[in-house]
Amino acid sequence: MVYYRKYRKRFLHGGIFLKEREKFASRIGFILISAGCAIGLGNVYRFPIITGAYGGAAFVLIYIAFLVLLGLPVMTAELAVGRGSQRSIASSFNVLERPGQKWHFMKYLGIAGNYLLMMFYTTISGWMALYFLKYLTGAMEGISGAEALGGVFGSMVVNTPLMIVASTAVILICFGVCSLGLQNGVEKITKVMMVLLFVLMVGLAVYSCTLPNAAEGLKFYLVPSMKHIREAGIWTVISAAMGQSFFTLSLGIGAIAIFGSYIDKNRRLMGESITIICLDTFVALMSGLIIFPACFTYNNGVTADAGSVGAGFLFTTLSAIFNAMPGGRIVGTLFFLFMIFAALSTVIAVFENIMSFWLELTKLSRRQVALVNIVLMTVLSLPCILSLNAWSGVTVFGKGFMDLEDYIVSNLLLPLGSLFYVLFCVTRYGWGWKNYTAEANEGKGLKVPGWWRPYMTYMLPVIIIAVLIMSAF
Ligand code: PHE
Repeated sequence: MVYYRKYRKRFLHGGIFLKEREKFASRIGFILISAGCAIGLGNVYRFPIITGAYGGAAFVLIYIAFLVLLGLPVMTAELAVGRGSQRSIASSFNVLERPGQKWHFMKYLGIAGNYLLMMFYTTISGWMALYFLKYLTGAMEGISGAEALGGVFGSMVVNTPLMIVASTAVILICFGVCSLGLQNGVEKITKVMMVLLFVLMVGLAVYSCTLPNAAEGLKFYLVPSMKHIREAGIWTVISAAMGQSFFTLSLGIGAIAIFGSYIDKNRRLMGESITIICLDTFVALMSGLIIFPACFTYNNGVTADAGSVGAGFLFTTLSAIFNAMPGGRIVGTLFFLFMIFAALSTVIAVFENIMSFWLELTKLSRRQVALVNIVLMTVLSLPCILSLNAWSGVTVFGKGFMDLEDYIVSNLLLPLGSLFYVLFCVTRYGWGWKNYTAEANEGKGLKVPGWWRPYMTYMLPVIIIAVLIMSAF
C-alpha cells in the first residue's frame, strides 16, 4: 500500500510520468550522497596523479580557484534546476522550459553522458576491487620491481573474463543497492560507506605523514613552485585544472541535479553547494597527503610525468611503495578499500540518476528498471574491457574505447552540459535569472549574490567555452 502510494503515477504533458517523489530522509543524507557522487576516482586517483604531474602546490591553487569560479555557480544552477523541476535531467527541462523551447534536448546529452561515464568507470572500479582482494589475500607479497608489478597489472587487465566478472559484480552490487529504493538503499548504504571512507582516509593520512621522508613530500605538495608549472606549460596546467574541477564535482550531466530533486526547500542551495564542494576538496587534498609522503619516502619523489598520468602510476608505483613499506599488506588493503568506497559511492549515485531517467520516461517499476539496466550496463561495459585486449587495435580518432569514452565525457559533455545549465538559468530565453534565484534562494543559508548575475551571464559562459576549446584539442 505504501509502495503503491509512493509510486502512484499521473500523466503529464509530453509523455512524462509524474510520480510522487521519494525524498531523502535527512539533510545529512542529501549532503553525504551528493558528496559521495562527487567524491570518486576523480579525487582519490586522478587528482593526486595530475597534481604530481603538473607541479604540486601551484597546480592545487589553480584548481581550487576553478572550483570556486566554475564549480560553485554551476553546482548551484544544477541543484536549482533539479529542485525546481522535481525531475532528473531526463525531463527537468521539459517541466521548466516554456512551450516551444528546445532545452529539453539536453536530456540526450545527459543520458549519454551518464551511460558513457559508467561504461569505463565500472571497469576501473573493478580493478580497485581486484587489487583490494590481491592485498587482502597476500597475493602481492614478495613481488618487487617496477617490471614485475607492471606485469601483475598488465596481465590482470588483459584477462577479459576476469574483467567481465569484476565489472559485472560492481554493476550488480550498485544497481542492487538502487533497487532497494532511495532511502532504504542509496541513502542508507552510501551514508555508511562515506563515514568509513572518512575514517580510513584520516588513518592513512596520519600514517603516511609519519613516514621518514614525509616532510619532503609535503613540501612538494604544499609549497607552490612555478618551476613545475613552467615545465608543463601554463595553458596545459590551466586546462587540466579546469577539466578536473568539472569532473571532480560531477557537473554538467545532471548527476548532481538529481539530488536537488530529492530535497525540500528548507535550505538555500548556495550554502549546500559550498558544503559539498568543501567535502569533495577535503577528500582530494587528503588523498595527496596519503600519496605524496609515501612517494617521497619509498619512490624518490613523484616520478609520474604528464605522459604517464594514468593507471600505471597507481597500480605500479603505489604497489611498489606498499610492498616496500613495513606492514604494506595492511596499508595496501586499507588503501584499496578506501578507493572502493570512493568509486562505489559515485557509481551508486550515477546509477540512481540513470534509474530515475527510466522511472520518469517509462512505466516500469524500480526493480524492473534495475534488471533492465544490469543487462544493458554489462553489455555497454564490454567495449572498454575489450579495448584492453582483443580490440586493442581498434581506435576511433586515434583512441581506444576506454580513452574515447573518458575523452567524450570529461572533455566534451561535462563542460558543454555545464554551459547549458548556466545559460538556461541566466537568459530570458530559458528559465531566467528570476526563476533561478527564486529557487536557489528559498530557505535558510547563503544567498546567490546579485553580482553573480553579470558574472554568470557574461563571464562564466566565456570561461566555459574557453575550457571546451582548450580541452577538446
Ligand atoms: N565526480 C566523480 C569523481 O570524482 C566523477 C563523475 C563525473 C561523476 C561526472 C558523475 C558525473 O570520480
